[in-house]
Amino acid sequence: MADVILRNVRKSYGSVDVIKGVDIDIPDGGFVVFVGPSGCGKSTLLRMIAGLEDISGGTLEIGGEVVNDVQASERGIAMVFQSYAIFPHMTVRENVAFGLTIAGASKEEKERKVAEAARILRMEHLLDRRPGQLSGGQRQRVAIGRAIVRKPRVFLFDEPLSNLDAALRLDMRIEIGKLHKSLGATMVYVTHDQVEAMTLADRIVVLKDGRVQQAGAPMELYHRPENRFVAGFIGAPSMNFLDVEVVSRDGNSAKVRSDVVAEFAAPAWREGIPTSGGAILGVRPQDLRPVESGGALSGSVNLAERLGIETVVDVTLRDGARVLASLAEDRVFEPGQSIQLGFDPGRAHLFPRDEPADAD
Ligand SMILES: Nc1ncnc2c1ncn2[C@@H]1O[C@H](COP(=O)(O)OP(=O)(O)O)[C@@H](O)[C@H]1O
Ligand SMILES: [Mg+2]
Repeated sequence: MADVILRNVRKSYGSVDVIKGVDIDIPDGGFVVFVGPSGCGKSTLLRMIAGLEDISGGTLEIGGEVVNDVQASERGIAMVFQSYAIFPHMTVRENVAFGLTIAGASKEEKERKVAEAARILRMEHLLDRRPGQLSGGQRQRVAIGRAIVRKPRVFLFDEPLSNLDAALRLDMRIEIGKLHKSLGATMVYVTHDQVEAMTLADRIVVLKDGRVQQAGAPMELYHRPENRFVAGFIGAPSMNFLDVEVVSRDGNSAKVRSDVVAEFAAPAWREGIPTSGGAILGVRPQDLRPVESGGALSGSVNLAERLGIETVVDVTLRDGARVLASLAEDRVFEPGQSIQLGFDPGRAHLFPRDEPADAD
């Protein structure tokens, strides 16, 4: 087992900077998830930890040792990819044992370790099949089995469930969570799936354009996003954002209003919120509820989606801005119907209108 520490890690391809100085602490035995939009550098970071890519700058430590110049095979790491990367001509047993075969392990050792991995992953009955006779989820289990038998210090997963359908993803997500608990190993997991991130991680690292935007426990990111990007990225449907004017500010509370937002006092703890002038109000769809009168927002229903467990109402405000409200009930709304929405002021978020530009 080992912790993984990145300090000012950089990666450039020629003159293109892809990772722009990243500090990340992955504790021993932790489950850390990297999330962020496509192209933000998640896979590149993982491949650098694995030793599949050179590090252009900064240091990478695994288990207290700087490993920038240590070969991939010497890092004690196993990586599971989105594409299963298993050999079609080999049986499951041979696939799982592959790394051990390469390392020259004895027949007994291979049998023992394969049996153990098969038991953990509940695939004893599949050992004599070939990949062509397996479902997507079973193939991914083979790939994970191959990682397990190597007893790595750190497991790296790069969107391992992206090729699976929704039901299988749920099953496999639960299995990976159990696997982490039973092995107690350090795991770093890349996904663009929020639900995977929120449920598996004890710590989420949100990335954008090769930089860390925020790192913290899932609920910390949800309740106290440090900037608008994180606020919009974590949570589904996305947080609503509206232009407002700050009328006055008293420490960590600001009175705000706009043509469509009735004046109220919003929490104003983030940096860069002016004492007067423009700002951005953020309210989560789950924090908006229809009220009979006196709602902070008023407009008309554009569309309502009844999902059974919730109803998502798309509302056009008087100035043309749109907000989504997500109600935890099945309720009927007619398009065109006027609606007022209220929210608990304490659950509103205020952001500076111009977030500080990232310095390259
Ligand atoms: N071998 C490469 N050469 C040049 N650019 C690359 C290479 N690999 C990745 N990139 C670029 O690095 C950025 C990050 O890619 P990647 O780490 O794959 O993102 P993610 O996994 O978050 O979608 C992208 O802009 C991508 O085009
Ligand atoms: Mg990727």
